[in-house]
Amino acid sequence: MDCIGIIGYGHMGSMLVDGFLSSGVLGIDEVVVTSRSRESRDACAAAWPGIGIAGTNSELARRCRTIILAVRPQEVMEVLREIVPVMDGDEHIVSLAAGISLAELEGLFPGQVTRVIPTITSTVGQGTTLVCHGRQTGMQDASRVEGLFSSIGNVMLVGEEELPAATILSSCGPGLLAAIIEELADATARASGLTTDRALSLATETTAATAAYLRKTGEAPGDLVGRVATGGGVTEAGVKRLRERLPGVFDEAVAAMLERYGAVGK
Ligand SMILES: NC(=O)c1ccc[n+]([C@@H]2O[C@H](COP(=O)([O-])OP(=O)(O)OC[C@H]3O[C@@H](n4cnc5c(N)ncnc54)[C@H](OP(=O)(O)O)[C@@H]3O)[C@@H](O)[C@H]2O)c1
Repeated sequence: MDCIGIIGYGHMGSMLVDGFLSSGVLGIDEVVVTSRSRESRDACAAAWPGIGIAGTNSELARRCRTIILAVRPQEVMEVLREIVPVMDGDEHIVSLAAGISLAELEGLFPGQVTRVIPTITSTVGQGTTLVCHGRQTGMQDASRVEGLFSSIGNVMLVGEEELPAATILSSCGPGLLAAIIEELADATARASGLTTDRALSLATETTAATAAYLRKTGEAPGDLVGRVATGGGVTEAGVKRLRERLPGVFDEAVAAMLERYGAVGK
């Protein structure tokens, strides 16, 4: 049977198993999972009774044609080296690792290879998974992988040269925006009688509502600012301060992330 294999049952591996099975895009008999530790394999078997569990990476590679590598970037090449000898060559390797290029993957496995950058927000069926196929990947296998990830959110096809910047927005983005929500809530709580919990609840709800508004209306963010920040009003006073300082802060943050991106897994 053409099973989907997932190597690594950590944050991303478990999110994918939950997402693929809960959405119904895969049946329980279509997924095989393995992980380095017995604890992780047992946790998967307990969470999803009846799921295929492989005792080793090689066993999984023998059982599956589509193999998702959900291990950390520094472990990807080691795992690939381990499974390549038992593979037929017509498999499809899907790597989630930031910083490991298609050329590096194809250097070890000169067959069908795809890079996928997931996002933690797929846990709630939202956000965008980035997909970048290698030259050898055929249309059928490409669309199978795109279909899988479409079941847990949006999918965007990107060129490899676009991946670093797109990763910052789709995959690092939830971490960046969560930090901003926290700072906004903390600042208002510090300056008022509002408790931190209530400030955080308001800031989170307003962020979700603002994203929903922009998505539904198609309005440009700058136009929304103009609607809310009327001349001489309260919002304008805040936006003015942000506009003075934020471009520099964001330039620094993006530069730091791009620098780190280049070093991941090396
Ligand atoms: N977290 C994110 O938001 C995010 C976003 C985009 C991309 N990614 C990428 O997704 C990948 C996984 O990240 P993660 O956050 O899920 O990491 P993680 O939570 O550390 O999970 C990695 C898993 O890999 C398993 N593992 C390590 N070495 C192994 C080996 N030799 N054979 C089999 N299993 C092995 C570990 O198993 P045990 O637990 O059994 O020891 C662990 O559960 C990374 O490449 C990362 O760059 C993550």
